[in-house]
Amino acid sequence: MSNTIVIFGASGDLTSRKLIPALYRLHKKGRLPDQTRIVGVSRSPYEHDAWRESLRETTAKFAGKSFSAEAWETFAPRIYYQPGDIQDADSFAQLAKFLSEIEEGQPTGRVYYLSTMPQLYEPAIAQLGKAGLASEDNGTRRIIIEKPFGTDLKTAKELNVRIHGVFSEDQIYRIDHYLGKETVQNIFALRFANSIFEPLWNRNFVDHVQITVAEEVVIGRRAGYYDTSGILRDMFQNHLLQLMMITAMEPPAKYESTMVRDEKVKVLHSVRKMTGGDFASQTMRGQYEGYLSEEGVPKGSQTETYAALKLYCDNWRWRGVPFFLRSGKGMSCRTTQIVIQFKNVPHMMFGEKSRVPMGNRLVIQVQPAEGIQLHFETKVPDAGMKTRTNHLDFNFQDSIGGDAMPDAYQRLLLDAVQGDASLFARGDEVELAWGIIDPIIEAWKSPAAPPLHIYPTGLWGPVEASEWMQKQKREWFDVCPVLN
Ligand code: BG6
Repeated sequence: MSNTIVIFGASGDLTSRKLIPALYRLHKKGRLPDQTRIVGVSRSPYEHDAWRESLRETTAKFAGKSFSAEAWETFAPRIYYQPGDIQDADSFAQLAKFLSEIEEGQPTGRVYYLSTMPQLYEPAIAQLGKAGLASEDNGTRRIIIEKPFGTDLKTAKELNVRIHGVFSEDQIYRIDHYLGKETVQNIFALRFANSIFEPLWNRNFVDHVQITVAEEVVIGRRAGYYDTSGILRDMFQNHLLQLMMITAMEPPAKYESTMVRDEKVKVLHSVRKMTGGDFASQTMRGQYEGYLSEEGVPKGSQTETYAALKLYCDNWRWRGVPFFLRSGKGMSCRTTQIVIQFKNVPHMMFGEKSRVPMGNRLVIQVQPAEGIQLHFETKVPDAGMKTRTNHLDFNFQDSIGGDAMPDAYQRLLLDAVQGDASLFARGDEVELAWGIIDPIIEAWKSPAAPPLHIYPTGLWGPVEASEWMQKQKREWFDVCPVLN
């Protein structure tokens, strides 16, 4: 069966920066199924050739070294453009006509990608429904939407109701681009294709887990969006909770979308609800110095650009093991990492003067310098029975040899075309995640909110966050990855 990918919001930044370069790379590698067309829809009045030409330029820029004029020549004829306005029913009637022309009425799998402002999701979905474009009479019909899926539990539920009015859950592909990252998918391999880690992956051996998504960048020109969002909505409700789910979930019987997502959802069900004083003792928030002077940030804004949470999963595997989640803008470096900190040895037998080891640690370096490190104690040579921490290092770059890691969108777009929803967020998952984040956002508006700590950029967030960890007799793993 042939396929058509229809991108709404085709003249936007995401399309030229991510989607088209990802489709182009898939095409170049021969992975995009034959007979796959791409149709861009937006209000700009392009002709097919003018749009192809503009994408050629942007793809040459964003696909970097992988761009070849030759490969582009064979890719470009797959691209079409259809002007249209999401608010206008007539545009959808014309789109329906155009699609059946290029598909020649043949059974075709269609993927509609809403690369638009989130405010346009609901009208676009309603129009697709009214124009009969969601009906699966002549092939599958799938819809991809990007985060944010609502701005709180209430709006997320409303959005789900609206989408379900037109598409069934198995037609909906909600993108969290973190799930498209190779190293995130590798957590499945690390945990469930090895026998040595899983027996230790529980409360008997793990002291705590740290999940860090640090960004060196600040908000740039995004104040309009960011100030109403803050880091809890922007990063925790989605990316950080996704990383936590995959780290904490039980092994599904099969790597299959329903089974994988069922297990992830169970993790969210197990997250202990915070109440009363927990919001002050288990959450930290900060704002980088200079945020208030960013263009478009309202005076006196209390929006957080840093947050740290201490969460517990109340289940057999994790009872009593804290999961520390933190993320910040304006941090010392860009790094996403998951640290599994194992418990220390019960007794150090090398005498009183021997140093107390840190406890073994497994560091999953999600990005950049993608890899895994295992930290363990070794003897210091030629120095009696002294020990020090060393590590075994696995680096993805070595195993793929010089090539850049594939971009998340390549994998996700291909999965959506092929109907594999394992790496997409399900409706219940999104709602449960809001159910964890919403009460914190609410508590932070109340008089009992923890203080908003101002932190200088270029460090690891507020100093108070380090003190907070010390009080818990733990330490953040503040290590920037070494880039080759
Ligand atoms: C986005 C957030 O979802 O993820 C951004 O809106 C953030 O604020 C980005 O910068 C981080 O993604 P990545 O892939 O660069 O880690």
